[in-house]
Amino acid sequence: MPLKKIFINTMGCQMNVYDTGQIQSRLAPLGYKPTDDLAAADVIIVNTCAIRAKAEQKAFSFLGRLVPYKESKPELIIAMGGCVAQQEGHKVISRMPHVDLVFGTHAIGRLPQLIQRIAATRCRIVDVDMATTISADDFAPGHLASSSDVSAFVTIMRGCDNYCTYCVVPYVRGRESSRTPDEIVAEIEHLVEHGAREVTLLGQNVNSYGQKEGFCSFAKLLDRINRIKALSRIRFTTSHPKDLSEELMLAFDRLEKLCPHIHLPVQSGADAVLRRMNRRYSKRQYMDKVQLLRGIRPDIAITSDIIVGFPGETDEEFEETLHLIDQVGFDGLFAFVYSDRPNAPAVRFENKIDEAIKKERLQRVLVCQEAFTQKKNLALTGSIQEILVDGLSKHQAYGSQDRPPQGAKDGIQWSGRTGTNKIVHFMQEAPADAWNQMLTGRIMEIMIEKAMSHSLWGRPLS
Ligand code: SAH
Ligand code: SF4
Ligand code: F3S
Repeated sequence: MPLKKIFINTMGCQMNVYDTGQIQSRLAPLGYKPTDDLAAADVIIVNTCAIRAKAEQKAFSFLGRLVPYKESKPELIIAMGGCVAQQEGHKVISRMPHVDLVFGTHAIGRLPQLIQRIAATRCRIVDVDMATTISADDFAPGHLASSSDVSAFVTIMRGCDNYCTYCVVPYVRGRESSRTPDEIVAEIEHLVEHGAREVTLLGQNVNSYGQKEGFCSFAKLLDRINRIKALSRIRFTTSHPKDLSEELMLAFDRLEKLCPHIHLPVQSGADAVLRRMNRRYSKRQYMDKVQLLRGIRPDIAITSDIIVGFPGETDEEFEETLHLIDQVGFDGLFAFVYSDRPNAPAVRFENKIDEAIKKERLQRVLVCQEAFTQKKNLALTGSIQEILVDGLSKHQAYGSQDRPPQGAKDGIQWSGRTGTNKIVHFMQEAPADAWNQMLTGRIMEIMIEKAMSHSLWGRPLS
């Protein structure tokens, strides 16, 4: 079979990262190998995100830049996949004559046939069909992005039935549907055989895993995964606060492989805004869950998402969000400016907030959080932390102040993550055979010596 090259640009969340792995697994049997070189590619896929207007614009602007590649190589196949593809469908084909294929979020399993048809007949195809349930055929065996990867994503469910009023996901990912526990466990066992030591289970709302289908609860699924030998760590994302059960909270105490970190998006600290967002919990209920979690697992790291400038958000309501950030003391926060999405109901809500005010509110959230992030990092100095080494430090990982402390010995610089998901850099003096003594994938004990702005610096104890 002649070797062909595929370039994939992955935008958006971890689910798209997982889907890109699935695309690679599906196309490998047709002879497609990944490339980083656009000019060398026979197929270019952009795996898109529709969550905010900016993400959508980014997808179209990347596609726009591909026109010259198509002109110089007419047999090149250009495809748009992911959430914007699902949302825009035929519109993309009429708007962009150089695009050959638009495939939606449920079409990945059909991709080999779609690509083969286009290669053979030079037709243009839109496949945005959606299924109401998930099936085993929708998945290729789990995929590690590179052979040295120790951490892998595993999608355990797709879609979302929550219909938060600002959100496009239910429209672009379809109805909530879960994979069977057996299938999930088999995929993780396969990944572990290929070197994975950590898995992050993915779903828009993992707390409602299997409920529709009558499978086991998410906590029970974690019990099963915890028994997989040679797997060191389990993470998951995302949890909807309304469905966070006590059974799941207790799993943080019971399961030694479950990392003490939860991403629990709150979105706003004002009950009236939460109601308009259709989040179906109050600030009080959120705070109670935070308190329970910390009672069960005092060292748990809690991170969150915030949307500022939701339609009608008053100054007072925004202040309530700042107050909540203060009260909780998150380990980390992702803050976003509200963005109108085509299908989401909030697009029709009145009293849209002025862009300048949204930006100012975003700044205030970021400044407020920065102090907590630093405080949390500082509190770890002098402590011993277990990390999973994920490879050599990437220089980009450093902020301007994130330099090794003065006097740190020369050696090879490695990085890893704590269970609480904080990045730790450390130096390992380099013996002659250092490159053979790969630390990647090992759990190491590190004495934390310095807190930097976005990571920690430490000294290996073992
Ligand atoms: N299923 C996850 C969220 C997935 S989207 C959950 O419910 O927690 C990730 C984040 O993007 C959301 O938590 C929200 O903070 C943000 N987001 C979603 N829609 C948005 C919009 N229209 N404008 C701005 N931010 C948005
Ligand atoms: Fe979007 Fe809400 Fe579903 Fe999360 S739970 S994906 S925010 S609709
Ligand atoms: Fe974006 Fe789709 Fe994920 S809209 S955030 S890539 S589910």
